[in-house]
Amino acid sequence: MPSPFLAAARGEPHDTVPVWFMRQAGRSLPEYRAIRGEGSILDAIHQPEVAAEITLQPVRRYGVDAAILFSDIVVPVAAIGFGVDVAPGTGPVVETPFSSAADLDRLRPLEPEADTGYVLDTVRAVVGELDVPLIGFAGAPFTVASYLIEGRPSRTYGKTKALMLGDPVLFGELLDRLAHMAADSITSQVQAGASAFQLFDSWAGALSPAHYERFVLPHSRTVFERCGELGVPGIHFGVNTGELLGSMAAAGPDVVGVDWRTPLSMARGRVPEGIALQGNLDPAACLAPWPAVEAEVRAVLADNAGHPGHIFNLGHGVTPDLDPGVLEQVVDLVHAEGEVRSP
Ligand code: CP3
Repeated sequence: MPSPFLAAARGEPHDTVPVWFMRQAGRSLPEYRAIRGEGSILDAIHQPEVAAEITLQPVRRYGVDAAILFSDIVVPVAAIGFGVDVAPGTGPVVETPFSSAADLDRLRPLEPEADTGYVLDTVRAVVGELDVPLIGFAGAPFTVASYLIEGRPSRTYGKTKALMLGDPVLFGELLDRLAHMAADSITSQVQAGASAFQLFDSWAGALSPAHYERFVLPHSRTVFERCGELGVPGIHFGVNTGELLGSMAAAGPDVVGVDWRTPLSMARGRVPEGIALQGNLDPAACLAPWPAVEAEVRAVLADNAGHPGHIFNLGHGVTPDLDPGVLEQVVDLVHAEGEVRSP
C-alpha cells in the first residue's frame, strides 16, 4: 500500500489523514524506560540495536504512519568532538561554548559514515523492519547554534542574539557550517534508507521575521536546496513560528510544521499553495480527560477540512507526562475520522 504519510507530504491523493508524533520515541513509553538504561541519551544512540528498538516501539504501540529515527539534534556536533552532552531533564549542554572565530576550528565538516556510522547502522536496521516510512532528521542551523553559543537551553537567547547582531559575519559562518553538517547528515540518513526528513528549527520562534529572514533563512535554505536532490519530502518545523510560517516555507520544504498557537486554516493562508501542513494538537491538551482530548482532535481535523496536504501531529513533541494510552486513542480517532478530499 502506498504511504499516506508520503502522499500527504506531496499533496497527492490518499484516503485517510496520516499521523505521527514528534518525539514519539522515548518519553512516556514504559518500554522505552526499560531499554534506555542510565546515563546520557548519546550512549543509547551509540548502540544501533537499542536505538533501532526504541525507534520501532512507538510504531508498534501507536500504529502511527511514520517512524522517526531515535537520535538527537546534537549528535553530529557531538560526533565531531565539539564537547556536547545531553543532560537528563535539561537538554544539550556544551563544555566550552562557541564565542569567537577561533571556535570555527572546532567545527570541521561531518564525515557521516566515519563519525556517525552507528546512526546509519540504526537506519539500515530499522528500515528492514518497518512497513511505514522512516523520517530522518537534523537540527536546523539556528537551533543548533543556539545551543553551541548559550552552552545550555536558554529562555532569552541573549548570547545568540548578541553574536548574531554584533558579529553577523561570524554568525553567518557558524550557521553555514551547521547547514552543511545538517545536509550531510540528512543525506547520509536518506542514502541509508530514510524516506523523508525533518529539519527541526525548534527555537526559531524566538526571532522577529526580519531577523529570521536576514540571519537564518539563507542557511536553512541551503539545507533544503542540498537535500532537495534526494527526492524525498522535507518538513520544516519550529515552535512559536506563527509569524514565520511564510519565511519557513520559503526555505524550500514540502511540509511546514505548525504549533497549536496558529490554526491550520490560518497557516494555510501564510504558505504557498502546494505546501502541506503538519500539526497541530496541543500536547498539553492530551492531559485532559478523553472527551476533551477527543473534541480537540476533532477540532484540528475540522479546521483542516479534508485538505489533502495535512499530516496530523502534535504542535510540539510528546512530553514525559503524557499517557501512551491517550496517544493510542488519538491515532485511532484520526484514522477513523480523518477523511481526505481529492486534491
Ligand atoms: O521521537 C523521538 O524522540 C525521536 C528522537 C528525538 C530525540 N530528540 C530523542 C531525545 C528527536 C527527533 C529529538 C530532537 C531534538 N532534540 C530537538 C528538536 C525537537 C523538539 O522537541 O523541538 C531538540 C530541541 C533536542 C534537544 C534535546 N534533547 C532536548 C531539549 C532534550 C530534553 C531534555 C530532557 O531530558 O527533557 C533532549 C533529550 C532527548 N532527546 C530525549 C529523547 C527521547 C529525552 C531524554 C532522555 O531519554 O535522555
